[in-house]
Amino acid sequence: MELLGSTTLVFIICVACLVFLLVRKESHKWRRLPPGPTPLPIIGNLMHLNLKDLPASLLKLAKEYGPVYTVYLGSTPTVVLHGYEAVKEALVDQGDVFLGRGRLPVVSDFHKGYGIIFSNGETWKQMRRFSLMTLRNFGMGRRSIEERVQEEAQCLVEELRKMKAQPFDPTFIFSCVPCNVICSILFNKRFQYQDEKFLHLMHLLNENAKNISSRWSQIYNLWPRLIKHFPGEHRSLFKGISDIKNFLLEKVKEHQESLDYNNPRDYMDCFLIKMEQEKDNPKSEFYLENLTTCGSNLLAAGTETTSSTLRFGILLLMKHPEVEAKVHEEIDRVIGRDQSPSMKDKMKMPYTEAVLNEIQRYITLLPSNLPHTVIQDTKFRQYVIPKDTTVLPLLSSVLNDCKEFPNPEKFDPGHFLDENGSLRKTDYFIPFSLGKRACVGESLARMELFLVLTTVLQNFSLKSLVDPKDIKTEPLISGILNIPPPFKLCLIPR
Ligand code: HEM
Ligand SMILES: *[C@@H]1O[C@H](CO)[C@@H](O)[C@H](O)[C@H]1NC(C)=O
Ligand SMILES: *[C@@H]1O[C@H](CO)[C@@H](O)[C@H](O)[C@H]1NC(C)=O
Ligand SMILES: *[C@@H]1O[C@H](CO)[C@@H](O)[C@H](O)[C@H]1NC(C)=O
Repeated sequence: MELLGSTTLVFIICVACLVFLLVRKESHKWRRLPPGPTPLPIIGNLMHLNLKDLPASLLKLAKEYGPVYTVYLGSTPTVVLHGYEAVKEALVDQGDVFLGRGRLPVVSDFHKGYGIIFSNGETWKQMRRFSLMTLRNFGMGRRSIEERVQEEAQCLVEELRKMKAQPFDPTFIFSCVPCNVICSILFNKRFQYQDEKFLHLMHLLNENAKNISSRWSQIYNLWPRLIKHFPGEHRSLFKGISDIKNFLLEKVKEHQESLDYNNPRDYMDCFLIKMEQEKDNPKSEFYLENLTTCGSNLLAAGTETTSSTLRFGILLLMKHPEVEAKVHEEIDRVIGRDQSPSMKDKMKMPYTEAVLNEIQRYITLLPSNLPHTVIQDTKFRQYVIPKDTTVLPLLSSVLNDCKEFPNPEKFDPGHFLDENGSLRKTDYFIPFSLGKRACVGESLARMELFLVLTTVLQNFSLKSLVDPKDIKTEPLISGILNIPPPFKLCLIPR
């Protein structure tokens, strides 16, 4: 008995010392973090945050605590960067340490660190390099990416003609172009717009974007370890992704059966060849699991982003008919009615380019960016940010800078034009973020936005079902993504 008692006592003392040391070390570690609102245990700064509009809460806190501050999202300290200077200093000047990907528990728990978007370290480096290279190669093959996008834009116009100027919901039809472009890069196939599988895929991608931005996701992200064990909506939020992966796995099987090592047809073939080449290399990152995750990453990142931007853009043009009229005028003057728009026209169309930039600026599709981390203890200004701390470089703070874009809350293509009507260059236009983690699909996305919008407006005028003045352009959901509100419109052939 006595022996047991003293052993227990020694044990308890040891544990207490250990806990004391650990806590001291922890608090020492956090001592030089930037200032911020005082957190409470477990709930962190919940009372300073509006979970319905987290991006707006984060902007507001900067007014009080300055351009670099710390906020506790649940019990996780998160460093927030506000304004161009701070964002650029981190993502560009100190780009080698701010390139980690922060956890977005709802999603990262699902991807287990494979793929591109939510991976880190060697996996990320290899997958990103491979994806960039392969995207580029399939843009320089026999048919360039530009030709693919042009063809898709023509298919879209054919499809839109069938509407015969009747009201319709643009959600899925405007996803067809970006989705088909990614499908043809990934597995060399484009789908007919009525194809059931294709519609189901776009439905999943659309729901996925809403789910990732939903309030449940925000709550789960605050207390992942706690909520994980309880029943609730978080269990089914990303069910759809496994459908997408199964769909991709089917495609991989088809590819394995028909693979010709000397003639890679697409991204999947290149990946399978790489897997074969590296099969004796124990350090290889090229495994099936990473292929399906990269595939679903590219589909998710490349479809709903571009499609949402197009839908927001159409809504904004309907609300501002004078802007639509000027775009029509420029299209007729530079391209005419008979030729299909191509990227070489873009340079000669400063007004249209300004409109596209202003759409992306105004909607700030990813207001708080995707979360970053620092990959080592990092001195930033007068602070020290410990390794693996989550960092949010707020894109909204740069895109809505009121010195660079006077009256930022107003939709005005003038934000990107100089007094002579030429395109005004600005470093503050960063909807795709900056630095080593910046969007992989920026040039593809910008090409799709330009070609789709000009091809549609070359052929149609937009007609709203409500008075333009009454059109609401506020996002339906504002979370990781700003989700456009649902609406209908008519397209009148010109
Ligand atoms: C209007 C359309 C788009 C916008 C506004 C957009 C924006 C962004 C942003 C803000 C990020 C996070 C950057 C960061 O962490 O600093 C990102 C990442 C990414 N985007 Fe896009 N994107 C768009 C379209 C696309 C397309 C078409 C593709 C497909 C090729 C794509 C693929 C990716 C990938 C793979 C990442 C992860 C990069 C990484 O973690 O290394 N995006 N995008
Ligand atoms: C989105 O969330 C709902 C509710 O949890 C779920 O039923 C649905 O399957 C999810 N969608 C996707 C694509 O995962
Ligand atoms: C790629 O996927 C496989 C699982 O199939 C995994 O074992 C490997 O670690 C992945 N690459 C990395 C290092 O994440
Ligand atoms: C506008 O045009 C005038 C005359 O051609 C030129 O002097 C001026 O520098 C131009 N302004 C800008 C901002 O390019």
